[in-house]
Amino acid sequence: MPTPKIVSASNPEAIEIAARILREGGLVAFPTETVYGLGADAGNPQAVARIFEVKGRPRLDPLIVHVGDFESAKYYGQFPASADALTKRFWPGPLTLIVAKKPSVPSIVTAGLDTVAIRVPAHPAALALIKAAGFGIAAPSANPFGYVSPTDAQHVAEQLGDAIDLILDGGPCSIGVESTIVSLEISTYRVLRVGGTPIEEIEAILGNVDINIDVSRRPQAPGQLKRHYSTSTCLEIAEESAEIIYAGEKVGLLSLTEPENPRNYAAVEVLSASGNLREAAANLFRALRRLDTLSLDKIVARPVREEGLGRAIMDRLRRCSARE
Ligand code: TXA
Ligand code: MG
Repeated sequence: MPTPKIVSASNPEAIEIAARILREGGLVAFPTETVYGLGADAGNPQAVARIFEVKGRPRLDPLIVHVGDFESAKYYGQFPASADALTKRFWPGPLTLIVAKKPSVPSIVTAGLDTVAIRVPAHPAALALIKAAGFGIAAPSANPFGYVSPTDAQHVAEQLGDAIDLILDGGPCSIGVESTIVSLEISTYRVLRVGGTPIEEIEAILGNVDINIDVSRRPQAPGQLKRHYSTSTCLEIAEESAEIIYAGEKVGLLSLTEPENPRNYAAVEVLSASGNLREAAANLFRALRRLDTLSLDKIVARPVREEGLGRAIMDRLRRCSARE
C-alpha cells in the first residue's frame, strides 16, 4: 500500500518540500541512478545521527556525501590531480571517490576517518534536490543495515516508511546496483567496491587498477562485509550442471536468462531475457526482494559472466550467499 509520504519527484513542489525538510534537519529518501538514498544535510550532525538510528547502521560505517558537481565536491574533500580524469569522465554517475576530508564534514559522516566518500549522482531528481537544498546530502542506501538496497520508492516505503519524513519517487533506478568506490587516498587507485561503473571503463582511462575488495581483512567499507546486501531467505550460487534435486523444498531460481526447467522451481526470476548484464543489474535487487517475500526454503542463483556489470552482480550475490 502506498503511504501518503511518497510524492512524485516530477511534482514541481515536491523538490521544494523535500529541500525544506532537509534544511530543518529531517530525513528524505530520494532516487539516484544506482539505488534510493536516505538523505540528510551533510553539515548537520544531529540529522546524520538519525540516519544511523533509522537504518540500524553501526556508527563505524561512514556515509557518502552527494553533491551537484565537482566544484561543490571540493568544499567537502581535498582532491588530488589524479581525480580529474575520473570526475571528468564519470560524474555525474555511479562512481564514488574517497579523498582526504575537509573540516566542513562533521566526523559522524566519516565515522571519524580523515577521508570522505563523495559522488555526483546522475538522477535528475537527486540533482534537483541537492540544488534546491543548497548543500551536500549525506546518504547511505535507504534500507535497513545489511539488507538488499532499494531500487524503487515502494521498497523504501515498505521498510523505512514509518521512520522517515518523505520519500521522493523518481521511478525505478536505471543502474540498480550501488556506485563503484575508488580510493584516491594513496598515489595508486584502489577499488573498494565494484558497482555501477564497470572496472573495464575505469581501466580504459587509468590502466590497471588495484581491486581491493578483500573481505578477510578489517573492512574499509562495510559494503565489503562478507555478509551484506542479504535476503532473509538463504541464497546459494549454483551452476545448472551442478543441479541437485531439492526434495520437498520450495526453491526459487534467479537466472540471467530463461531456465531450461522452470517447473523444477516454486518461482523463477529472469534478470534479462536477452542476457544483457546492464539490464540484469537493474533488475537484480527487485528480483531478490520478490523471491524473498515468497517464504521459500532457498533461493538458487545462477552465476553470471564476470565482466561489465556482471562483476557487481556476482559481488552482491556472493555477499548475499555468505552466512555466519
Ligand atoms: O550508489 C551508491 O553509492 C548509493 C547511493 C544512495 O548513492 N549509496 C550507498 O551508500 O551505497 P552505502 O552507505 O550503502 O554504502 C557506502 C559505502 C559503505 O560501504 C561505506 O563503508 C563506504 O561507502 N565508505 C564511505 N566513506 C568511506 C571512507 N571514507 N572510506 C572507505 N569507505 C567508505
Ligand atoms: Mg548500503
